Amino acid sequence: MEVEEIRVTPWEAEAFVDYNKLIKIFGSRPITESEIELLKSITGELHLMIRRYVFYSHRDFDKFLEAYRSSIKCALYTGRGPSGHTHLGHILPWIFTKWLQDKMGLELFFQMTDDEKFWHSEGGSFEEYNRLAYENILDLAALGLDPAKTHVIIDSEDISFIYPIAVKVAKKITFSTQRAAFGFTDSTNVGMIFYPTLQISVAFLPTHLYGERVEVLIPAGIDQDPYWRIARDMAPSLGYPKPAQIHNKLLPGLGIGGKMSSSKPETAIYTTDSPEIARQKVMKAFTGGQPTAELQRRLGGNPDMCPVFKMFEMLFEEDDEKLTMRYNSCKSGALLCGECKAELADRVARFLKDHQTRRRAAESIIDKYLIRNKFSTPGTSKSKRP
Ligand code: TRP
Repeated sequence: MEVEEIRVTPWEAEAFVDYNKLIKIFGSRPITESEIELLKSITGELHLMIRRYVFYSHRDFDKFLEAYRSSIKCALYTGRGPSGHTHLGHILPWIFTKWLQDKMGLELFFQMTDDEKFWHSEGGSFEEYNRLAYENILDLAALGLDPAKTHVIIDSEDISFIYPIAVKVAKKITFSTQRAAFGFTDSTNVGMIFYPTLQISVAFLPTHLYGERVEVLIPAGIDQDPYWRIARDMAPSLGYPKPAQIHNKLLPGLGIGGKMSSSKPETAIYTTDSPEIARQKVMKAFTGGQPTAELQRRLGGNPDMCPVFKMFEMLFEEDDEKLTMRYNSCKSGALLCGECKAELADRVARFLKDHQTRRRAAESIIDKYLIRNKFSTPGTSKSKRP
């Protein structure tokens, strides 16, 4: 695949891309044995998304882990533009983030960018994006993120937490930097032009809130990288540590090529889909299989290009040996797609049933996740937890 063909920006990205090429284009570093060993020395075991290189690329992950080992205060940061209900592609990095939170005892700062989504959208009311931010928090809760350690910032309502930082960040960013990093033009609305300031500011919020150096790790897709490049450039001059990053591969959608995306809802599994609907979507999935069972038996399938196999690999099959068996029996033609899809449909349906029970239970504890209920606004000086 030619470099020019890979389109990965904060607003469009594909799955099944050549991730080594992405690393070259973005100038990040591959996650290697040495970072994995370092992580293992802290966590004792490895999450499947690390074992299988679902997280494949990083900036300063090693430095972040070293800082943690030397007892420097560390925190996690990630976020979401609440443009709709959450699907499995969205929760993939959150599942890993929760694992890091549990294993390392880290606080997580989570930004809900209702403003960004409104500025970026063609239609859609602002009130609706704000409402969806609260809907999406239910998913964080259902995944088990610790309410005492997870602090959600809803941009439009919690701006006073970030604005004192944003004032300084904005002064360091010129329009020409923005143009080059995000491809903005003269007809881009000024909300979008200001927005990167807010996403960058949250990377500095932990240090600002605690009044001491806090190293920040951002688990996210590499499409968010332009923000962090700018953040890292300006961090020293503002007295903040450079945020570290780890990048996850995108979960493919159930259609032909492409990431799981809300623009193709029939190929995305939403956390709010009924288990029955989800089952139907899986059964209709495009696969790496042959057109007929007879050909499949003879030639075998192609799990490397199959969204159904990827769902097992990236999310649903914890057991490495079972995953390898599935891979081999697909390739050999012993496993037919119908059977494989039915197994995935069962896993997905079970996951959704449990997730939805926890999601409903979370409605009464949503307040415990909101930063405004836990910290006082820092203003321009230090603040403490109440
Ligand atoms: N811009 C992101 C989106 O469109 C949302 C976001 C805000 C984010 N802060 C983040 C994503 C930090 C990852 C990490 O979805």
